[in-house]
Amino acid sequence: MVDLSVKIGKLKLKNPVMAASGTFGPEYGELTDINSLGAYITKTITLKPRQGNPPPRIAETASGMLNSIGLENNGVEDFIKDKLPKLSKIKIPIIVSIAGEYDNELKELAKRLNKIKRINALELNLSCPNIKRAPLGFARGRQGAQMIAQDKDATYEIVKAVRRSTALTVIVKLSPNVTDITEIAKAAESAGADSVSLVNTFLGIAVDIETKRPKLGNVTGGLSGPAIKPLALKFVRDAYKCVKIPVIGIGGIMDYKDAIEFMLCGAAAVQIGTANFVNPDTSIEIIGGIRKYLAINKIKDARSLIGKLEI
Ligand SMILES: Cc1cc2nc3c(=O)[nH]c(=O)nc-3n(C[C@H](O)[C@H](O)[C@H](O)COP(=O)(O)O)c2cc1C
Repeated sequence: MVDLSVKIGKLKLKNPVMAASGTFGPEYGELTDINSLGAYITKTITLKPRQGNPPPRIAETASGMLNSIGLENNGVEDFIKDKLPKLSKIKIPIIVSIAGEYDNELKELAKRLNKIKRINALELNLSCPNIKRAPLGFARGRQGAQMIAQDKDATYEIVKAVRRSTALTVIVKLSPNVTDITEIAKAAESAGADSVSLVNTFLGIAVDIETKRPKLGNVTGGLSGPAIKPLALKFVRDAYKCVKIPVIGIGGIMDYKDAIEFMLCGAAAVQIGTANFVNPDTSIEIIGGIRKYLAINKIKDARSLIGKLEI
C-alpha cells in the first residue's frame, strides 16, 4: 500500500491531485468520480456579479489554448445561496477560489466565507490575466501592475488582510507573468499564506490573418495546456527553493508522468486544468498512475518525491 496523502495548511488531502479552478464544474460529477480527487476547487468568485469578457473567449493554439473568460460569475451571495448547496454530493474538501478588483474586496470575501462550515480553504486568485481594472497595487499608487500577484507589496498587503479575516487554509495562486517569482512567493509566505499555487495562465495573443483581428474578443488571453509545462516547472522549482510552505504545481499536466515531474521539482500537490476539457477522467487516471509509479519504484509515500530532482 502506498500513501498518497498530503497536508496543505490545515487541509488533509487523501491524494495530491485536484482539478484547477475554472476548468472543472460540478457538472463533471456526471462524467467522472469527483470524490476520488484530493479536493474540489470552485471557479473563481467575486464579491459582486461580473459579466466577463466579450466573446470569443477561447482560441485553440499549438499544444494549448488561450482563454479570456474574465471571471464571469454571479457573485458571492449567489454562490452561498445557490451554488454551494448544489455541491452537497461532494464529500472531499472544498476550496473556494476568490478574486477582487479593489482594496478590501478579497478581505470582505474571506470574512463572508470564513463562517461557512462546508468550506475548507480559500484559493486567492491574485493572478487572473483577464480582468481589466487594475487592483490594489494600482489603487495605492503603485502603477504598472495589472494583477496583484505582479506586485510583491500588494501581494503582501492583501494576503495579510485576508489572513486576519479568516481561519481557513489560505492558498495564494500566483502569476507567471512576472520577472521574479521568488519575491512574490516570499511575500505571500511572510504575510501568512499556508501554500502557494502556481501557475495561472501566461498572457498571450492569437491572430486571425484573414480578418487581421485578434481571435479573442478581449485581444489578450491566458495561455494554458501542454505548451506551458516546461515554463511552469521552472516557476514551481524556483518557488519551492525559496519558501517553506507547500507549493502546488499547475500548468500543462496531462498525465501522471507530468504530475511526477512537478512533484520532483517541488510540488506537494498538483492541479489539472486544460486536460479536463480533453478527458474528464484525467485526474483520476493521474491518481492511479502516481500510485502505480510509487509501487513499482518501491516508494512508500508520495511526499518523499517532493523536490527530489537530482542535479
Ligand atoms: C477556460 C479556463 C478558465 C479558467 N478559469 C480560472 C478561474 O476562474 N480561476 C483561476 O484561478 N484560474 C482559472 N484558470 C486557470 C487554470 O486554473 C490553470 O491555472 C491554468 O489553466 C494552467 O493549468 P493548465 O495548463 O493545466 O490548464 C482557467 C483556465 C482555463 C483554461
